[in-house]
Amino acid sequence: MPKTPNYFQGKTIIITGAASGIGRATAQIFAREGANVVCADINGKGAKETVEQVNAAGSQGLALAIDVTKRAAVKDMIELAINDFGRIHFLFNSAGAALKRSKFLDIDDDLLDRTFDLNFKGTFYPTQAIIPHMLENGGGVIVNVASMAAKRGGPGSSVHYAAAKGAVNSMTLGVAREFAKDNIRCLSISPGPIKTPFQAAANSSPELIKRFLDDIPMGRFGEPEEIGELVLFMCSDACPFMTADTVYVNGGGGWR
Ligand SMILES: NC(=O)c1ccc[n+]([C@@H]2O[C@H](COP(=O)([O-])OP(=O)(O)OC[C@H]3O[C@@H](n4cnc5c(N)ncnc54)[C@H](O)[C@@H]3O)[C@@H](O)[C@H]2O)c1
Repeated sequence: MPKTPNYFQGKTIIITGAASGIGRATAQIFAREGANVVCADINGKGAKETVEQVNAAGSQGLALAIDVTKRAAVKDMIELAINDFGRIHFLFNSAGAALKRSKFLDIDDDLLDRTFDLNFKGTFYPTQAIIPHMLENGGGVIVNVASMAAKRGGPGSSVHYAAAKGAVNSMTLGVAREFAKDNIRCLSISPGPIKTPFQAAANSSPELIKRFLDDIPMGRFGEPEEIGELVLFMCSDACPFMTADTVYVNGGGGWR
């Protein structure tokens, strides 16, 4: 929660991956706080549905059908958001996916490229595109989504995905430190398994899901709202000294 009541009222966040899961839950939470929410996703229909929810909460939304792996489209996303709302205060890079589970020796170039394009470049492009605007306007907060996989390494199923999320954490660290004096904070969140369409999209096997669950002392998956509330805190004025790090949210699991 913010330190200042109504801190988010009238401020604007861009959320990628806003059509589903963690992105959508975060859009609802920022709408609850009175923020304008730019809902960007490759799934334009889903982004529109999220905007309807944002509007129903009394806030203003803008739906954009954007592929975050395309540099030009991401530039358009930032420009359209600025045209509509004037200033962008926060960016939440939630778009991402494990795409396909694969043993290490079976990871081919196509899977490797698509995984890095979506999870790493899809975070890099929006970050690079928003920073000049944040510099001009006295700062901002960027929150990225990595994964517990970055810590585990994804043996047997997801080394490609784990490595791409590891790159997200490294980028977060570098961006945070490069722009620390410019009042731009950059953080990441490394979730354990969260109840969203993510596992279905990656065709995770029932055995893999069970392995994830067995590893969580709380004995359950997280809810997307349990990530969204942390995004809100990270963007707020309650943690101005917090930058560069990743926060693990995993019910105590993760072989740490
Ligand atoms: N759910 C989990 O267990 C879990 C765990 C760790 C990390 N994560 C990460 O959390 C983030 C959000 O995942 P989620 O659980 O909400 O999954 P989700 O599948 O519910 O949502 C992902 C969203 O990203 C969008 N997307 C995919 N490719 C895109 C592209 N090229 N351009 C724009 N949008 C695109 C999808 O359309 C979808 O709406 C991802 O980065 C994921 O890697 C999820």
